[in-house]
Amino acid sequence: MESKVEFLRALPVFHQLPSKALADLAEGLEERLFQAGQVLCKEGEIDPWIYFIQEGTCRAIKKVGTESVELRVIRPREMMGLTSAFRMKPRSATLIAGSELKILALSHEHFNRVIFSGNDQQETVTCLLEHLASSVRRKNREMASLMKGKSTSDRPKAAVFDSKEYTRSTFAETSRDEFDLSFFDTRLSPETAGLAEGFPVVVGFVNDDLGRETLERLAAGGVQLLALRCAGFNNVDLKAAAELGITVTRVPAYSPHAVAEHSLALILALNRKTHKAYQRVRDGNFTLDGLVGFDLYGQTVGVVGTGKIGKCMVHILRGLGCRVLCYDIYKDEEIQDLPGVEYCEMPRLLRESKIVSLYVPLTKETYHLIDAASIDLMQPGAMLINTSRGGLIETQALIDGLKSGKIGSAGLDVYEEESAYFFEDFSDRTIRDDVLARLLTFNNVIVTSHQAFLTEQALANIAETTLQSLREFYKGHRGDQLTYLL
Ligand code: NAI
Repeated sequence: MESKVEFLRALPVFHQLPSKALADLAEGLEERLFQAGQVLCKEGEIDPWIYFIQEGTCRAIKKVGTESVELRVIRPREMMGLTSAFRMKPRSATLIAGSELKILALSHEHFNRVIFSGNDQQETVTCLLEHLASSVRRKNREMASLMKGKSTSDRPKAAVFDSKEYTRSTFAETSRDEFDLSFFDTRLSPETAGLAEGFPVVVGFVNDDLGRETLERLAAGGVQLLALRCAGFNNVDLKAAAELGITVTRVPAYSPHAVAEHSLALILALNRKTHKAYQRVRDGNFTLDGLVGFDLYGQTVGVVGTGKIGKCMVHILRGLGCRVLCYDIYKDEEIQDLPGVEYCEMPRLLRESKIVSLYVPLTKETYHLIDAASIDLMQPGAMLINTSRGGLIETQALIDGLKSGKIGSAGLDVYEEESAYFFEDFSDRTIRDDVLARLLTFNNVIVTSHQAFLTEQALANIAETTLQSLREFYKGHRGDQLTYLL
């Protein structure tokens, strides 16, 4: 178990705090255990403690009129009670252990003593204020979105989750005044599904948690259409959606070129070591040692999956003068007879290809398609490219392959456990995923953050196709009448 200081430092609110203040705070931490259902504190009562969850979950319940409403579920590494620490304010919600719960408790008195005395008092208070101010800004944005969602506009509404600036601008531009779109920064999960209450339609994305629990909460809030603004749907419990009467649509193709071209970018960068050359020259080092690549012309490249993206890749590779070995459960008529293109079984593809590139969806059959056994079959020093889904590769086997030199380089736009990190800024936080952290240490690995789709054309197509699903839904189309039904 990490030290109490490290535990506190990992919390965003204390991340920038001076070490001395952290150590002083840690001294006051008391460990407590609760059984599921046990009450930590009651709404309206004074409770002079800040709680930090180590293990388990806690539910915050608030009385609204005669009803009890669950505000949120608080999970490990989250805290409760900071805002009431400065003045003895009554609790705004009742906290109940959602499961067996292990927490650290810190008295308000101890907290205030450390924060408002001590040598680095000014720095400590500034750090806390900075964090609290940015959390107020975030809450304001969410509140604005919520109010918009509850607006009386008669335009058809949708709640768009996990949205970034580029999502907002392309959706707003494509929708113009047709739809009343509310954008939420947060991803969909059981905890955030409540934000969609009152919206008949939600727009989801690749790393949303769309398992049964989230879908149940969405359905309870009135959601009838889940319009995915992506092609992959491995994160959706389709059975649960059908049972709950939620229709699911997706964007089957928005720009296969965008993804294939990103694969090419990874191949070229890894081969010609552009990432290293860029750093080297910026540092005034104009040497060429260690930058030797190979001609792609004449090389054998394996394309696993020859659907829309894989097929684009085959054309790109042919343009470069490569020989292409393809593997797919179906042979594509358009490419199978092209000169230099040949379908074969997976073992031969692995054995003969200098570069292996993946374009199959993530399914039960393709999960860990690349594992220790398949890496064993690959050529020594082969390059592996994955712009499809992280789960296609057993990451530990890849790391072992990179360590032994069996894998010469890897270009990854996706990673098995990406949902905890991708699309977010962790530049001032610690990466706790040791496997990801290890991957990032290899100088012959390029990891990009699921950005293969990110071109102007693809974004516009994604918005247009998603809004087409909304249009059809609001016209009353259901089931097979929806063009992009899953
Ligand atoms: P697609 O459906 O057109 O092609 C998939 C191909 O895989 C099909 O030809 C299919 O027959 C083949 N396949 C399926 N299961 C197989 C198996 N068990 N063994 C061998 N072949 C199998 O899909 P598309 O549009 O080419 O996309 C491929 C994947 O790329 C998507 O599923 C998605 O996960 C990923 N993707 C990644 C993006 C990114 O930004 N990194 C963006 C878009 C898609």
